[in-house]
Amino acid sequence: MSEVTSFVPGFLTTKEYRRFEEFCGACRRERYIGICYGPPGVGKTLSARHYAKWDLFEGRNPFAFCEPVPAEIADCCCLLYTPSVTNTPRSVRSGLDDGMMLLQALVDRAHGPIFSDAPCGFSARCELVIVDEADRLSTSSIEELRDFYDRSKIGLVLVGMPGLEKRLARYAQFYSRVGFAHAFRPLSQDEARFVLEQHWQGWGGTIRGDEFADQEAVAAIITITAGNFRLIDRLMGQVRRIKEINQLSTVTREVVDAARDCLVIGSS
Ligand SMILES: Nc1ncnc2c1ncn2[C@@H]1O[C@H](COP(=O)(O)OP(=O)(O)OP(=O)(O)O)[C@@H](O)[C@H]1O
Ligand SMILES: [Mg+2]
Repeated sequence: MSEVTSFVPGFLTTKEYRRFEEFCGACRRERYIGICYGPPGVGKTLSARHYAKWDLFEGRNPFAFCEPVPAEIADCCCLLYTPSVTNTPRSVRSGLDDGMMLLQALVDRAHGPIFSDAPCGFSARCELVIVDEADRLSTSSIEELRDFYDRSKIGLVLVGMPGLEKRLARYAQFYSRVGFAHAFRPLSQDEARFVLEQHWQGWGGTIRGDEFADQEAVAAIITITAGNFRLIDRLMGQVRRIKEINQLSTVTREVVDAARDCLVIGSS
């Protein structure tokens, strides 16, 4: 994983993740192109990685036959692809081919020493491709993706910033193949509170319902971060630091304000 800033152990299954999961499932079943857009830091990449179980694949050598393959890989059928900043149709195609090969080889190995007899080669097990950072795609790379989609008939989800859907609307042929658009939203207040509870638990404490200082601190964090996962993580990192340096037993509004002053927090 690229960012390791969270004190929350592991992935949290939020309502927004469930919506994303449902959206990807629909694109996979219908073999549609879907566009998912949302502001920075709301959890798009992490959700895509979780959906594709990409942590199990990344960095593995599909031909290192002596390394064991986790059994959970056996039912994977989704490829996560992130184009490079300076992408070309050729780099996109080879990135997709490499990813397909990795997926196919590891899924085959997870099933045991049986070779796939699927008639259409590598794409046989891949039912969905998620392209993260899709804003990076050049015009010709989008054409390449359209060609890939037409030939493979695999579902395709493009993930990017708000405005991606408007940009893609300019490519009439590509856009005519788009079945769904999905807005990835920040956390609601209740969910932000749930995430904060996980942070508190990570420190070995709980948010006390009958303690005004705790409630005031939580309300301040929710207001400052506006339900943005990345901001919550960064702010809580500073809160933890200030709490430890000053050997404080509780987190108060003043601690949150001091933590906020340490960060460059803009609107997300
Ligand atoms: N479901 C989750 N559970 C736990 N932590 C999460 C979750 N979603 C996001 N985060 C935290 O928020 C951070 C930012 O998430 P992520 O990188 O997925 O955002 P993004 O929407 O892809 O942002 P960008 O548009 O900048 O790429 C993660 O590094 C992680 O710490
Ligand atoms: Mg991202």
